Amino acid sequence: MSKLFSRLSDFARIGNRAAFSDMDQKITKYKYGSDAFMRILESRYSCHSFTDYPVPDSKLQMILEAGRLAPSAKNCQPVRIWVVKSEEALARLRTVHPCYGAPVVLVVGCRNEEAWVRESDGVNSAKTDAAIVLTHLMLTATDAGLANMWIWDFDPSKVRQALP
Ligand SMILES: Cc1cc2nc3c(=O)[nH]c(=O)nc-3n(C[C@H](O)[C@H](O)[C@H](O)COP(=O)(O)O)c2cc1C
Repeated sequence: MSKLFSRLSDFARIGNRAAFSDMDQKITKYKYGSDAFMRILESRYSCHSFTDYPVPDSKLQMILEAGRLAPSAKNCQPVRIWVVKSEEALARLRTVHPCYGAPVVLVVGCRNEEAWVRESDGVNSAKTDAAIVLTHLMLTATDAGLANMWIWDFDPSKVRQALP
């Protein structure tokens, strides 16, 4: 039952993206680029209740490849992705966050010491680079027909403990 409510709240969330959603009625054909890409952007949403339907390896490989293709500042590539999909690893991760029952979790991290540091103000690009990778992952998962979401509200030190 709680899964059902969670799904309904997903739909409510999609409905809440009102800023541009009524444009859908007005735009019959996108003028530039491919309609398919815009459809992916439109159909992505944050899923808060996953089924345990297995994710095919071919889809996972495609998603990871999309992450690999992401740009990074000065091409430093400071981002790492940990694929959490074994029952054992998922169980350990779920002690930190339930991950809404997702059967595969991609943990994205970055190494500050490998990232570009902007000279003018010393800002490190690692987190920006990681955000770009994550966006590639989410959009490609959506394109592959896999619901997904970004979880930021967790304790990183606990994740490091759970997945050393
Ligand atoms: C950087 C970032 C962190 C997020 N962290 C969480 C999170 O910890 N928990 C959560 O339920 N949703 C999280 N979200 C999902 C956002 O709440 C969601 O993207 C936003 O409400 C818009 O809804 P939509 O993704 O369905 O379009 C996060 C999204 C982003 C971009």
